[in-house]
Amino acid sequence: MFAFKKKEQGRCIMTQIVLIGFMGAGKTAIGKSLAQKLQIPFLDTDQLIEKKVNLSIPKIFEEKGESFFRQQEKEVLNTIKDQSAVISTGGGIILSQESQALLATFANVVFLEVDIDTLVERIKSDANNIRPLFLTHTPEAFKQIYTDRLPLYQKASTLIVTNRGKSIEELTNEIILKVGV
Ligand code: S3P
Repeated sequence: MFAFKKKEQGRCIMTQIVLIGFMGAGKTAIGKSLAQKLQIPFLDTDQLIEKKVNLSIPKIFEEKGESFFRQQEKEVLNTIKDQSAVISTGGGIILSQESQALLATFANVVFLEVDIDTLVERIKSDANNIRPLFLTHTPEAFKQIYTDRLPLYQKASTLIVTNRGKSIEELTNEIILKVGV
């Protein structure tokens, strides 16, 4: 069996892997694959927020604003912090100190690192997932967001893996191996 770091809550032992990283890093695809392999639930903070607020992410940004969205991220993280799950997060989850503190309570936080040029290509070709921040920033400003966030992802993570030139299965196995050591 897998030897992931566990978190003990009362008498219940939990397996938790939170995936963090910039938009387009592959958190959802890798998260689903990990959850399937480990046979634990898959959760996605963006999906949980959409369900909670009953609006799509672009609509939340448009109608309620980014700070409202960030508040929802904290609330959702707080509600799942004691669950056994693989959790895919929105790329900005590392921005607030409260979310950083919440992330630190999860057993494993894996940063999927990808260079900005690859990310931009992926985001452009992902018609199913509209990113408001991509649409509302110039290419230079968008790259700056990435640069500003990099140290935050690094600081919040317990493991860093690169997601470029690897299949979903390869990366899933790599994470299982590295986190399990
Ligand atoms: C965001 C990333 C998005 C989503 C929202 C804001 C960000 O999630 O939460 O559009 O600030 O980086 P993905 O990282 O899954 O694209």
